[in-house]
Amino acid sequence: MSRVFSEIELLFQERIAEEYLGEDVKLVEHMLQCGDLARVTGAPDYLIVASLLHDIGHLLVEDAEDGHASGVDLRHDFVGAQWLEERFPATVSEPVRLHVAAKRYLVTTNHDYLSKLSHASVQTLYMQGGPLNQEEVIDFISREGAEDAVRVRLWDDLAKVRGKATSSLADFKSAIDSLAIERE
Ligand SMILES: [Fe+2]
Repeated sequence: MSRVFSEIELLFQERIAEEYLGEDVKLVEHMLQCGDLARVTGAPDYLIVASLLHDIGHLLVEDAEDGHASGVDLRHDFVGAQWLEERFPATVSEPVRLHVAAKRYLVTTNHDYLSKLSHASVQTLYMQGGPLNQEEVIDFISREGAEDAVRVRLWDDLAKVRGKATSSLADFKSAIDSLAIERE
C-alpha cells in the first residue's frame, strides 16, 4: 500500500464523525460524494483525486469547526494544496488551491450561481472575500488548473446530499496510487 494512501486513510478515519461546517453532511461523506460525482462524469483520475481530496485542508486543521463558528477563514484551500503538492502533481494540487477562488469566480460570472449555493457556502463566501472583481477574474482564469477548479467546485456544491450512499475511500485507491509521488 502506498504511503500517501495510508496517510489519507488515517486522516479520513480520524475525522470520520466530523460535521461539515454548517452543512447537512459529514465532511468525509461530502468528500466521497464529490469524488463520486467526478467519477460518474468520466473525469480523468487526477480530477477524481482532486475532487475527492479538495477539502483535505479541513481535515488537516485541528479546529476547523471553531474557526468557522468565529468567522475566521482558515484557508483550507491553501492548507490542502500545500499538503497535496508534496504528494501529487500540480494537476491535483492546483484545482484544490483554487476551489474557493472558483466559487468567488462563479458568483461574479454566473448570475444564477449564488442562488444555488447552500446557506453555509454563502456565509463562507463573504469570509473568503466575496465575489471576484474584474481584475481578479482575469487573474483567476490565467492560473494553472483554473478550469479544473471550476469543475471541482460545481461537484463540490452538489456533494451535500444527506444520507447518500457513496463509494468507500478504498474505491479510490488505484487512482490515488497511480498519481502519488512517493517520497524517500
Ligand atoms: Fe467542499
